[in-house]
Amino acid sequence: MAAQEKTFYLETFGCQMNAHDSEKVVGTLISQGYRQVPTVEEAGLVLYNTCSIRDKAEQKVFHRLADYKKLHAAGKRLGVLGCVAQQEGEKIFERAPHVSLVCGSASYRNLPQMLMQLEASTCNATREIPRPAGESAGLWDDPTREWAHNPRLATRDSQLVRITGLDDRETDKCFETEFTARTNPHRGYITIIEGCDKFCSYCVVPFTRGKERSRTSDSVLAEARHMADLGYTEIQLLGQNVNSYRDPAGKRSFAELLAAVGEVAGIRRVRFTTSHPRDFGRDIVKAIDAHPTLCDHVHLPVQSGSSRILHAMQRLYDRDQYLERISWMKSARREISITSDIIVGFPGETEGDFEQTLSLLEEVGYDGIFAFKYSPRPNTPSLKLDDTIPDAEKSRRLAVLLEKQRTIQQTRNRKQLGLTLEVMVEGKNESRKQWIGRTSQNKTLNFTAPAQRDVEVGSYVPVRITTAFPNSLVGELWVNA
Ligand code: 5AD
Ligand code: SF4
Repeated sequence: MAAQEKTFYLETFGCQMNAHDSEKVVGTLISQGYRQVPTVEEAGLVLYNTCSIRDKAEQKVFHRLADYKKLHAAGKRLGVLGCVAQQEGEKIFERAPHVSLVCGSASYRNLPQMLMQLEASTCNATREIPRPAGESAGLWDDPTREWAHNPRLATRDSQLVRITGLDDRETDKCFETEFTARTNPHRGYITIIEGCDKFCSYCVVPFTRGKERSRTSDSVLAEARHMADLGYTEIQLLGQNVNSYRDPAGKRSFAELLAAVGEVAGIRRVRFTTSHPRDFGRDIVKAIDAHPTLCDHVHLPVQSGSSRILHAMQRLYDRDQYLERISWMKSARREISITSDIIVGFPGETEGDFEQTLSLLEEVGYDGIFAFKYSPRPNTPSLKLDDTIPDAEKSRRLAVLLEKQRTIQQTRNRKQLGLTLEVMVEGKNESRKQWIGRTSQNKTLNFTAPAQRDVEVGSYVPVRITTAFPNSLVGELWVNA
């Protein structure tokens, strides 16, 4: 890659944490003189930010890598970032030998150095890595420098250069960068805690993202204020388990941090995800009650309605404890919309256990769920349990669950008919001539507006709800006569 034509293409798989990591990776690459391009064909460097939460997600990545095998011959470099990179490590080079860079999410801080190595190897792969302009020889050659060890150059020949950054899961440092390239100018993510120490028996995250580490509440607030200055009005605080947040400076609890972000001038909506029921405190509901800017929506994954299965999943709460948290939310001043993640077909899940999950859906009255078939993952404790439920049965349970939830959502959404709610305008569906809006409860509310009315993306407008579907609402811009 010649210096004047450093281009990259990045595709992201998986959760919001990955989406936000990608924004930071893009910012970091741009700060290193790269230009993002919209197609693989135009790019010198092709990056995949990967997800390994379920086998399907992981296979998608390997299919993509196989598709692009020919790119290596075309002189492009391929890099695998994220959770599959962390999980599979150097094994990726065996399965996809044309890959040059493997970097786990905990090692992104080292990306600039890894890129320099990659570029140096591209210029002349058999030479020593050249010292960049401005770096003193002493510093650059110092073997104690972090980059000299990690990331490391595994192989170096003129055809294939392999650079790995995988060893940082124990770091206390979060991936904070001043170069975050946020994709949406109105709504932005802020990571408050990385990693997870919960070790639910099915979950690969503690192995791919490492131990929990929180950012100081002061640095989160500084970023929130900076974003507000740039015109952002909605902030979403991110973490695998935001309720485990512990301010390293000891200044604020998670609920206090939420409240403080909600008080930042210019911020109109604050969301947070994901919550873990074990650590979800009543103080969060109180904060939502006290601060209208904190959205009336909580994503509180239950995973199963059966206490027996919750125990086997090592979720650290039972059905009753979960329902207690739900009752706190139901006694809030505003109606809080509640969503969840559910796994069907966990090893040993009987029909009776599954029915308890179905009855929990009714009892809670969720406004949305993400439901998944259990997928055995490497390193996880539940891998030792036999994956006893046949795939066809998992599919049946999933279909039954989703159908039940569809009915619940239809009923719940119908209750909103006739209400006038404020939405943030997200865009326009030209073919339907409808604006796309989002309510504070995180529901999609599409609406029409009189032709002469100016509606701006990113603005907040009142919309009267006229139609309710299971997955969205439809309405009309409320025009004050
Ligand atoms: N199999 C199926 N679903 C899983 N999830 C996490 N690990 C697995 C697995 N091994 C689901 C959980 C989690 C969501 C992000 O993904 O429901 O909350
Ligand atoms: Fe995985 Fe459990 Fe941590 Fe969530 S809380 S990331 S499910 S280990």
